[in-house]
Amino acid sequence: MLSVKNLKYDVADEELGQVGIIHDISMEVPDGQFVVITGPNGGGKSSLAKCIAGVYQPTAGQILFEGQDITSMSITERAKLGISFAFQQPVRFKGIEVFDLLKLASGDKTLSVGAACQYLSEVGLCAKDYINREVDASLSGGELKRIEIATVLARKSRLSIFDEPEAGIDLWSFTNLIKAFEKIKAETNGSIVIISHQERILEIADTIVVIERGLVKAQGPRDEILPGLLGTESAYPSCHAADQDGMDVEKCEPKDEAAKGGVF
Ligand SMILES: Nc1ncnc2c1ncn2[C@@H]1O[C@H](COP(=O)(O)OP(=O)(O)OP(=O)(O)O)[C@@H](O)[C@H]1O
Ligand SMILES: [Mg+2]
Repeated sequence: MLSVKNLKYDVADEELGQVGIIHDISMEVPDGQFVVITGPNGGGKSSLAKCIAGVYQPTAGQILFEGQDITSMSITERAKLGISFAFQQPVRFKGIEVFDLLKLASGDKTLSVGAACQYLSEVGLCAKDYINREVDASLSGGELKRIEIATVLARKSRLSIFDEPEAGIDLWSFTNLIKAFEKIKAETNGSIVIISHQERILEIADTIVVIERGLVKAQGPRDEILPGLLGTESAYPSCHAADQDGMDVEKCEPKDEAAKGGVF
């Protein structure tokens, strides 16, 4: 369904000149698969997702979607082909209500309140409190994130990309979010790409891709890749900054118990 071939993405920095963010990434998202991209902070995961969605234009390489070269296509053209993207930090839309956004996303101007509420409840929001809220700065970060996930669910795209859907979502809703992803996985005939640091999301992946320093460090079936990520020193690569506050350098892990939930 999606093939990323030798993707490279550089940005122009005033002082440093061209800075390489993605050096050379090739990966595949087969039809109907649930692919989880993981890896340390700053590795290039969001940049890769933005290149796939058309937010960033890659410096080199090729992106094929259902056999078609989409590398130079705009976000809108890609969306029309069936690619949806939920940002790590969602965008706010002043003057637009949640209901409008869900209607737009579903492509159904006559979407019923009941159907819209169903999408909101899947992301743990009490629909009647939110359906007529404006998608503006009055929403909390977690609320906004959940609303954006609901719009991607409503789009029912061939390829849905979620950048850290768990970020800012409380624990109770996180459990429901996992259930929502499990449900999509069972029901959809499209493919899903999730960028995540969470073990529970990695556990429901078909394929895991590990991105580190702009390169693919590993990719393959979950059962092959996951054991290598859990409980090894590679699980906390940020320890390279050995004197970081909150890190137990001897054990190469966070001192704080609560911070140990993630893989990266
Ligand atoms: N426009 C830009 N200008 C300069 N540097 C950038 C730009 N965009 C991204 N970067 C840098 O590129 C690297 C990769 O960023 P990216 O957001 O893709 O990482 P990530 O893997 O998604 O990290 P995280 O897990 O923290 O979300 C980071 O070091 C980031 O600071
Ligand atoms: Mg990111």
